[in-house]
Amino acid sequence: MDLVREPLEFQSRAAELRAAGKRLGFVPTMGALHRGHMALVETARQHGEVVAVSVFVNPTQFGPNEDLARYPRTLDSDLEQCRAAGVDLVFAPEAGAMYLPGEQTRVSVGAMANGLCGASRPNHFSGVCTVVSKLFALVGPSTAVFGRKDYQQWKILERMTQDLFLPIRVVSRATEREADGLALSSRNLRLSADARERALGLVKGLSRAQRAFERGVRNADELEGVVRGAIEASGLRVDYASCVDADSLERFDGRTKERALLATAAFADDVRLIDNVVLGEEPPLGVP
Ligand code: PAF
Repeated sequence: MDLVREPLEFQSRAAELRAAGKRLGFVPTMGALHRGHMALVETARQHGEVVAVSVFVNPTQFGPNEDLARYPRTLDSDLEQCRAAGVDLVFAPEAGAMYLPGEQTRVSVGAMANGLCGASRPNHFSGVCTVVSKLFALVGPSTAVFGRKDYQQWKILERMTQDLFLPIRVVSRATEREADGLALSSRNLRLSADARERALGLVKGLSRAQRAFERGVRNADELEGVVRGAIEASGLRVDYASCVDADSLERFDGRTKERALLATAAFADDVRLIDNVVLGEEPPLGVP
């Protein structure tokens, strides 16, 4: 496995591989890798002969009062996991390397970025789309793989790829969970034992709402209320609980469709966690 730190060197390496006829599967990450990322690597392997992973904590997707400085950085362990998973190429640029001095360019996103996480993180998706387009330009992958825990991110990046005519297939993979249902996330590393327990409020709420949907509840407010109730009862602070169209991400006013995204974000102490379920599509979360 090769580790490359310089963007242009990475671009040349990827170009050489493509020139040798290899299809590249790409998994962009911010590091602090876990089983969920390794599942994305497995999916990338199914789509390409060579798998590249990037590890870069992207400053432009963090707001001024967010956890950029506290975001977990575990490069040695990340490299070990990539090696064990058979990753071919890791790109881990230095902090400033992806934004050149005097840089002027950001990708801006339309209404899909206004709700859900975008409502409380105003420039977040612009930062995500900016860095992902840079990474796509460096790698030139055939396929890029994203986790559905970040459902809004996946949908926005899928749309960006389409809008910019990028010749890249955007593939998603289901959220990986702990045995008790907690969605895997790099930020789980920042949870105290007590906050880890309370964090189950998100999946409990989604699971209860999923059961309500199965019983026939189709009122968006009611489904959102179930999620909020469970999260608040767990002692977390709700950022949002929203029931939206699973493709356009537009909020339902009243009745939901037979397939709907129920997404939530909440704070366990100062750690912001997200989770979601696609009602009418995903198997039962099965959390009491
Ligand atoms: O999901 C993430 O880890 C990040 O948002 C991404 C896609 C690597 C962009 O920085």
